Amino acid sequence: MAVKTDNYLMNINGEWVGQERETLDVVNPANGETVGTVPYGGEKEAEQAVDAAYDAFQSWSALTAHDRVGYLKKLNQLMLDHQEELAQLMTAEMGKPINESRGEVKYAATFIEWFAEEGKRVYGETIPTHATGKRLQVWKKPVGVVAAITPWNFPAAMLTRKMGPALASGCTVIMKPSSESPLTAVKLMELCEQAGFPKGVVNLVTGSSSKIAKVVMENSKVRKVTFTGSTEVGKTLIRQSADQVKKLSLELGGHAPLVVLDDADVDLAVKGTVASKFRNAGQTCICANRVYVQEGIYDEFVDKLSKKVQELKVGDGTDESVDIGPLINQDGLDKVKHHVEDATSKGATVVTGGEAITEYGGVFYQPTVVKDVNQSMVVMQEETFGPVTPVEKIASDEEAAKMANDTPYGLAAYVFTENVSRGTQLIEKLDFGIVGWNDGGPSAAQVPFGGMKESGIGREGGQEGIEEFVESQYVSIGMK
Ligand code: SIN
Repeated sequence: MAVKTDNYLMNINGEWVGQERETLDVVNPANGETVGTVPYGGEKEAEQAVDAAYDAFQSWSALTAHDRVGYLKKLNQLMLDHQEELAQLMTAEMGKPINESRGEVKYAATFIEWFAEEGKRVYGETIPTHATGKRLQVWKKPVGVVAAITPWNFPAAMLTRKMGPALASGCTVIMKPSSESPLTAVKLMELCEQAGFPKGVVNLVTGSSSKIAKVVMENSKVRKVTFTGSTEVGKTLIRQSADQVKKLSLELGGHAPLVVLDDADVDLAVKGTVASKFRNAGQTCICANRVYVQEGIYDEFVDKLSKKVQELKVGDGTDESVDIGPLINQDGLDKVKHHVEDATSKGATVVTGGEAITEYGGVFYQPTVVKDVNQSMVVMQEETFGPVTPVEKIASDEEAAKMANDTPYGLAAYVFTENVSRGTQLIEKLDFGIVGWNDGGPSAAQVPFGGMKESGIGREGGQEGIEEFVESQYVSIGMK
């Protein structure tokens, strides 16, 4: 299915707007072609969206949870009905292989479905009193207007992971998708319209990230900002939130270690490494960024991993047989090249891959395995966000824990071992919010997703994910 080039619009208070605005081109990184344009919105549109969401909040939050569920269930069904259209658009705007895009649409819909159900279970509490004549209760209230700022690497799922719990709990939402991949968000907005959400409950603003963020951070009608993106931007939002003590949820950078102990099932570890590392061409916050393998199985692991990596097919994501699409842009490619060049200049060896691919016209890099790396190399210190697997030899479980924790980040980690005692004791030492034990794909709607240390604040998904959008109000009731 070809995606038609089109001028997409913003949606504020139920109206499609922005026709008169300058536009931003959305470029397919697989071939450099423009896929569509979105309006370059700024302060004016952000203010309008905040006002619309603020006005809609009174009536949306006054609905029963059961009423709100109806809208979310419709949206979930519409997403599934439009799975192919959403997936094609996603692949066209950011290069993800089509089968992964289809998977992401399903994954994105699960957040809407799961939080539709969870919205009915935002329970308050009755607390035993210390004084006769008093009743102590905790009531739950939606936090208010929420701004959801999302990245390009998961154009659907990062939005629904925020919208789902926000809408289910009674908040209204302003979506600000990445300018690299905003078209999927526009399509999602169309589906919200079809699902019948009242005007102003969901709004979409595209354009200048800094101008729109400035408004949502400075306007006191916005009570919560939920953001997925870099740690650098996350720190700026923390600073900007101080004046109004705005609530924040931040899912920031990762630098995931993947540890393979010498009793691991090596084939399973290789499979898990490929699944984690090469999903979305290595452009996920939780993908294994550095691999530590115990010396007894190091050569076998590197050999088996390299063979599997050589089988991965690179190309335009619209080709059904492609496993690895392009990187998002030239900066992404330059970073990957730098990481590999730095490693080899310091003594590492490329086992497979190691070169950019120019023949397709887009920004591609070969799926790569680099061995004999060490902690002094940039690839072991920074998130690569590309299809490169550096593998370092370690001696012991203690060394594994030390190396894994040797980072300011704490989003995801992976451990491969068949031994329950070793696995348990190693994981207890790891400062990471998510751990895949013999599992390269731990994400799901019903579990808490988020990081420790500089990887973020709060959790998305699961029961914890909806708590982020409600306030506890303690009420002490005096009896006559
Ligand atoms: C991310 O890269 O932040 C999202 C990955 C996921 O949800 O599995």
